[in-house]
Order: sequence, then structure tokens, then C-alpha cells
Amino acid sequence: VSSASASPLIARLAERTAAREREGVLRRLRTSDAAPPGRRRFEGRTLVDFGSNDYLGLASDPRVIEATREGARIWGVGAGAAHLLGGHTRVHEAAQEAIADWTGRESALLFGCGYLANLGIAQALVGTGDTLVEDKLNHASLIDAARISGARLLRYAHADCGAASRRLETLEGSALLCTDSVFSMDGDVADLPALARICEANAAALWVDDAHGIGVLGASGAGAAVAAGLGQAEVPVYMATLGKALGVSGACVAGERRLIEGLVQFARTFVYTTASPPALAHALIASIAIARSEGWRRQHLSALGTRLRAGLASLGYESRSATPIVPVVVGCAQRAIEISAALFERGFWVPAIRPPTVPDGTARLRVSLCAAHELSDVERLLDVLSEFADVKMPDATVY
Ligand SMILES: Cc1ncc(COP(=O)(O)O)c(C=O)c1O
Repeated sequence: VSSASASPLIARLAERTAAREREGVLRRLRTSDAAPPGRRRFEGRTLVDFGSNDYLGLASDPRVIEATREGARIWGVGAGAAHLLGGHTRVHEAAQEAIADWTGRESALLFGCGYLANLGIAQALVGTGDTLVEDKLNHASLIDAARISGARLLRYAHADCGAASRRLETLEGSALLCTDSVFSMDGDVADLPALARICEANAAALWVDDAHGIGVLGASGAGAAVAAGLGQAEVPVYMATLGKALGVSGACVAGERRLIEGLVQFARTFVYTTASPPALAHALIASIAIARSEGWRRQHLSALGTRLRAGLASLGYESRSATPIVPVVVGCAQRAIEISAALFERGFWVPAIRPPTVPDGTARLRVSLCAAHELSDVERLLDVLSEFADVKMPDATVY
């Protein structure tokens, strides 16, 4: 097929892609092969994987794998229908109950993934005439959620509770304040108690995206809201993803029963999609039980993070991180790519993250830790990074 026969729209798209390549910012899909926990295999080489959000190492846990097998034996693999059309099985229901119980919420609802859950929350809760107030560094799915809902989007400077409060003070109509709990590219934790107070003072509702907090934060891993002592009244809309620390796939929204009942009616991303595979709901129940009970995974993660942050600080890389996500901000996008490539050659998978995913001038390596890592993996990474420490932009930590 000659390119001349392509539709003008596809030709225009191809031109935009080519422009990205010319500017050296083309995104590339890299295909990996099976590897042991904490490792990733590319092109015949096994690397230490510092790019995964499988924080607790549960994606490859034999008990979770066995539960997936058992779930598939009982339920088959796919649900075959949307939740409202017969696809909602008893094992989906049991997984929802396990999540509600763990997070101390009345009820919970499964979604296909976090992106869809966020869109669905906004579709159900807000519309034209309402306002969504969001942290500037919120995940892209939360920005898209505002767009799809038709609500007005107001953003505030990252982690600036005063600015968030000012955004709410002058509003008319209903407002929802939405924040990542753990910011996905910086690893810092939002001040949820302060945001809850601001919401209460301004009759707004707080919506927390705990994609990177569930499993990781709190004594039993119940996530950022529980870790901050905030119940359903203070954080009425709680979303967590199930494909990161829990090692499975999908997402859940948890809160009061009326919220969940309303999502079943009005979240189009719940209604008009096939239910997630029941085999995965079966796996999720096993994975939640492990995440709740095996505190050593969180302790080990925390020790790895402490070592990594201390080592990076001694190389001059400070960060706001307080979690297994640790950014190494080098500033220049091209340099971040070069360092990532050099690390690849030395046996480490550490993705470079560039604008527009992060603000201009703050390109970085995003290191994410996993309970399957050894302290020696972190030590070796620091050794290699020390060879590049001089390339940091002078103001790169002031981002
Ligand atoms: C903060 C945040 N919210 C939502 C998502 C989307 O979740 P999912 O991957 O399940 O679609 C992600 C990342 O994937 C995330 O980092």
C-alpha cells in the first residue's frame, strides 16, 4: 500500500509523528520478555528493573499466579459481558468487599483501569456549571476526566494548599477538589489532612487518586487516606488502581453506598464496557490478603528508599520523594535520555521521563523501587549514577 493512498488525517498524524522524531522526542515502544521479579528482559539482556510500579513484587508472587489459575478454572478467563448485562460475577463482588473492608469504606466498585475509573467518577459527579479544582501535577487521566465531564477545570500550583483554598473560596456551584495522593513523577505525598480541611471549609468534596499509595502507605497498606487518618467523611471519593502495588490490573472506587450506586448508573466508563476478567478479581483477593498481612514488604521498600534518597542527596540530587518513586531530575530532556541509555548498557532499566509528561526543564530519570530488589541493586545503581552526577543542571533540584 503506498503512503499516497493514506487518508489525509493519517498523513497529518504521520507528519506530527515525524516532527517528534526530528525534535528527538519520539516515544518508542520497547518490547520486553519474561524475567524474574525485580528484573526486566530486553533484547536478550536481563536488567535490574527500576521502571515498574509493582512496588510489592506481587505481580509474580506464586500465590497470586495460582489464584489467577484457579480463578480461570472456575470462571473462565473473560467476563463476556458488561457488569450490568450479566458480567458481574460473585468474585467481582467479593473483590469489591475486600477493597471496601481494607480501605474502611462502606462500598467499592471495580473499573477496567485507573484511567477509566477517573473518567467515570467525573462523568457521574460533575458537569457543566460545576468546577473541578486540581493540583497542577495531577495525573493526565484526572485532567482528561475534567475535560470529558464538561466541568470547569481550575488548577493550583503543586502542593500549594493556600492556592487550592483560594480557588475554592470564590466559587459558585458545586466543586470537587481532586489530587493524586502520591505524585507519580515525584513520589511526594499530598497533604491530605490540609486538603480535607479546605474542602470542609468550602463545602467541596475531596477526591483522592491513590494509584501509588495503595499497598504502600499505611500500616496495613490501606493507602494514603487511611495512613492520614481520613475516613469516608473526609475523603468521600477514593480511587485506587490495582495494577501497581497489587500486581494485578484494574481499579476501584470506594466510598459511601450512594456514591457507588450512582457510579453504576452514571459512570459511562463502567456501564459501556465489558467487566474485567473474573480470574483477575480472584487474583486480586489473594493479592490484597498478602499486601495487608506482609508488612515486611513495605519495611523493605522503605529501607531501599531511604538508602536511595540518601545516596542521591550525596550526589547532589535532592527530591521531595517520600515513597518508592524517586526522581533523579537532570533538567535537559536529551541528557535524561542519554543517561537512561547509558544505564541500560550497564544493566539497569530506568526510564527517562520528558516534557510534556513532566514540566519543561525537569526531565528526569524516574526510579521506582520494588520489594523484590536487594539493597545491593540500589548500591550498584548509585555507583553508576555517580559517574553522571556532574551533568545535573545547576538549578535542577529547584523544580
Ligand atoms: C496517579 C495515577 N492515576 C491513574 C493512573 C491510571 O491507572 P491505570 O494504569 O490503571 O489506567 C495512573 C497510572 O497509570 C496514575 O499514575
